[in-house]
Amino acid sequence: MIYKTKTLENNNQNILLVAKKIKAGNVIALPTETVYGLAGRFDNDLTIKKIFSIKNRPLSNPLIIHYGSIENALEDIYMDSRAKILAEKFWPGPLTIVAKAKNKLISKIATSGLDTVAIRVPSNKIALAVLNQFNLPFAAPSANRYGKISPTSAKDVFDELNGKVTTILNGGTTKFGIESTVIDISNKKTKILRHGGISEESINQLIKIHNKENNILIRSPGLSNSHYKPDKPIRINAIRPREGEAWLAFGKKPSYFKGVSLTLSEKKCLDESAKNLYKMLRLLDKKNVKSVAIQKIPEKGIGLAINDRLRRAAFIKDK
Ligand code: TXA
Ligand code: MG
Repeated sequence: MIYKTKTLENNNQNILLVAKKIKAGNVIALPTETVYGLAGRFDNDLTIKKIFSIKNRPLSNPLIIHYGSIENALEDIYMDSRAKILAEKFWPGPLTIVAKAKNKLISKIATSGLDTVAIRVPSNKIALAVLNQFNLPFAAPSANRYGKISPTSAKDVFDELNGKVTTILNGGTTKFGIESTVIDISNKKTKILRHGGISEESINQLIKIHNKENNILIRSPGLSNSHYKPDKPIRINAIRPREGEAWLAFGKKPSYFKGVSLTLSEKKCLDESAKNLYKMLRLLDKKNVKSVAIQKIPEKGIGLAINDRLRRAAFIKDK
């Protein structure tokens, strides 16, 4: 089915409209504080199947369920003190908790048939308003084609999914620009499955994380090494630009380089770099260059998430 994709401006009327559409089983793109999501009822298998098919995502890669309140979210999992501590500190916000699922209504297709579920309470006001309209959680992956970079504006969603979704709710540019951190507390050992908006250091101050070995994370089910890909090939950890490449700097742009260049953050701010990363990769995809070189970014704070995405973006062949 090919739709005429409509972008709605953010107002109370459209928030109600979108909440009603989701309640009725439709799939709608909307903003969160991390990236735009493709939202559908958490308990409707047909809707969830549609989300997978719009993204062309393998059914083995489960979705995150989003909630309008911390209480409602925690009610749906079997939990211990870790969930409470994390929720209290980081929700609403860009942390996703994986735990054993309690609520039998959650679509088995959304969780890829696992006995665990990934949940989060977003802090974006529009997402929260939609969730709280009918007190109904929604499942939402990032609103991009599978394997590509996530959208950080309504226009990005349009470029990714034009004709595949009916409606995009416009909430401007997203605050974090990179996906949520995914943390697994379904076992005694706490593991980070994906670096993201909440830094590992800030989690480690509260609870011990077990899975760190040379920054290689345990894989989430279905998530491949090759992911988050722009259209152009990229070269990471670059020291200086080469001819024919576009240059994505961390810090000041080099004055000697005459080619296309942008900077993630002139003042070497990691938060600003995360916010700009996907936006700038999309911009550079449109430029007349063969490839993009990205200056080395420090492996700390949200830099861990940036480097994780860049390694996957640069990964050529999946095992
Ligand atoms: O910031 C975000 O998390 C955005 C916004 C829209 O909320 N969503 C997002 O969703 O990035 P998605 O589907 O693109 O990524 C979800 C990640 C995947 O890596 C998936 O494998 C993992 O969460 N995941 C989901 N359920 C899981 C589970 N039960 N166990 C382990 N990993 C799980
Ligand atoms: Mg995604």
